[in-house]
This record gives sequence, structure tokens and C-alpha cells, in this order.
Amino acid sequence: MKNYKVCVLKGDGIGPEITDACINILLKVAKKYQFKFTFTYPNFGGLAIERDGIPLPNTTLKECQKSDSVLLSAIGDPKFDNLERKLRPESGLLQLRAGLELFANIRPIKIFESLKKASPLKENYLKNVDLIVIRELTGGIYFGEPKGRFKINESEERAFNTMVYSTEEIKRISTVAFEIAQQRIKKVCSVDKSNVLDVSQLWRDEVINTSQSFKDIELSHMYVDNACMQLIRDPSQFDVILTGNLFGDIISDEASMISGSIGLLPSASIGYKNPGLFEPVHGSAPDISGTNKANPIAMIMSAAMMLRIGLKELEAADDLENAVTKAINLGFRTVDIAQAGETFLSCSEMGEKISEFI
Ligand code: IPM
Ligand code: MN
Repeated sequence: MKNYKVCVLKGDGIGPEITDACINILLKVAKKYQFKFTFTYPNFGGLAIERDGIPLPNTTLKECQKSDSVLLSAIGDPKFDNLERKLRPESGLLQLRAGLELFANIRPIKIFESLKKASPLKENYLKNVDLIVIRELTGGIYFGEPKGRFKINESEERAFNTMVYSTEEIKRISTVAFEIAQQRIKKVCSVDKSNVLDVSQLWRDEVINTSQSFKDIELSHMYVDNACMQLIRDPSQFDVILTGNLFGDIISDEASMISGSIGLLPSASIGYKNPGLFEPVHGSAPDISGTNKANPIAMIMSAAMMLRIGLKELEAADDLENAVTKAINLGFRTVDIAQAGETFLSCSEMGEKISEFI
């Protein structure tokens, strides 16, 4: 019997609640499809700051590297906002992505038919919406050097970051986007700001270069400001959106709302050699932490991406995604996707409901 070693990073805020809901379901899936999970729970994020003084202890990174997949909920808490930047939970996540060399972040935006009312967009804009954001994850302004903050004189400070990409980085993320597009309708829209930024001009040139090996792909380009507007005006025009780290961060949050709630959207981060990292797009929602109100679906769908992409358990992944769809189509809701007056389930109840449909 296969035994998958999964490193589970329970995270901060609503992290532990959505993780618990998700792990119970994974155990049921494993039983049905006759494989096993060995879960390990190393310290990460806020928990690691409290216990080890840093957000990503070396032992945690090593543990992740040795596993078959890494499943993460969400990190961040305002109580750490005053720490030096490199000691905050968010820095731990960036170090983890870099440490595992996960340069490609895959964020699919799926519309659930019966949830169209939860979207702030009118229903007729949602027809045929099915898109996926491919975000470069280990470069760009998130990691660029030089960066810093310093005093100019008694009363003034300066701070700066550098947005930097090399042809190699652009080529490998474009290749991922083109390969994913080949399994879909073969359309890629690359998003940049090449009318202003040199780094974006290189991005556009190298995306075009890379596309020479993918002649079947219809490639288009959009400036990021226009792309944000087009996403709201007519989201159905997009299929694969390829973009850099910062633009991808912003665009994926924007795109998530098209589906109704950021609480629905999963993501997968992959590289060439290390295990993949599977995590919801949303944050740790400290405002509702501990109330059992969170929507566990993004986490559960991230686990489905882990089954599909990380562990290649395709049937199990289908089953889990179908169970989520069934729960939604039968009208089960958490508070974030319920209409006014509609009854809703807690986080753990939603988890149990989905588990019933496996
Ligand atoms: C995300 C998050 C992270 C990011 C934060 C928490 C560092 O917003 O995964 O989108 O900016 O990448
Ligand atoms: Mn984000």
C-alpha cells in the first residue's frame, strides 16, 4: 500500500480550523482509494515564531524537502506586524517557496453554477468563465536585490525594492503556462507593464521567444492595468493568464472574487525537483479565527490539487472535487457564500458534509 508523507503546516488564524476539516476528509479519501498518509506537523509561521523565534526553522524546511507534498493553510497575524520583516510569518512563506524552489504558482478560478449569486458580478458576465492564473513565485519584486530602508536625514527616510527578472526565470514560467494551456483551449494572455518598465519589456520579449516552441498556442499580451479592468468587464475572454510575482498576487485576489468568495480558491506551487506546496489563495483571516466560521473549501480544493498534481492520485482527486461540488450544488453554505437570510454551516460542519459525499 502506498504511504504518502505529507508535511502539514497548520498556520495561523483560521489555519488550524480549516486544516482539521481537511485532514479528516483526506483520511477518508485514503481509505477509499487504498493508500495511506503519514502526516507530520512541523512548526511554521506564527507558531514557529513563538517557539523557535523564526517563522521557518531549518528543521521545518528539511522536513518539507523530505516529504511527498506540503499542505499549508494560511499564515499571518497582526500581532507580528511590529517584528522585523524577516521575522514575520509572511517572510517564512517566502523563504519556504524559495527554499523549495517553487517557481510556478497555479491558481485556477472555477465558477460553481449554483453559486453564481454569490459573485459580485452580474450572472451574465459569468458565462463560460474558466481561467487559471500562472504566477511566477520565486522572483520579481518579492525577492529582487537591492532592497532596503534607510534614513536620509533626521526627518526623512527612503525605502526601495527591485523588480528583477532574468530570461531563464521568464522562460521556465512561460513554459509551465504554455504546457498547461496545451491541455486546455491553448490560449495564453501574458500580463506585464512593458509600456513603462524595462523588466516587463524583457518579460514580454522572452515570453514571445519561448512561445516559438509552442506554435499551437494563441498568445496575447495585456498591460496589467488593462488586465485588471478586463477581468471585471469580461472575465470569459481569459483562459491561462501568465504573469509575474506581484501582478499575479494582485490579479489572483481580484479574480477570486469573480467566483464569489476567496474562500473557494486553491493553489498549487511547483518547481522541478522538490515536493509541491498546496495552499489556499486566501489569508489567515485573524478576525474570524477560532469562531468555526471559516470556509474550508479552498483548503479542501488545495488538497484535491495535491492529490492530482503532487501525488498523481487522479481518481481520488476527482472524487474529492466532486464531493465539494455536490455539497455546494445541494445548497450547503458557509457564511461567506450564503445569501442574506440563508442558513449556513460552520467550518467543521462543512467539512463533515463534504466528507459524507466521498
Ligand atoms: C499569497 C499571499 C502571500 C503573497 C503573502 C502571505 C506573503 O498573499 O499567497 O497570495 O503575497 O504571496
Ligand atoms: Mn496574495
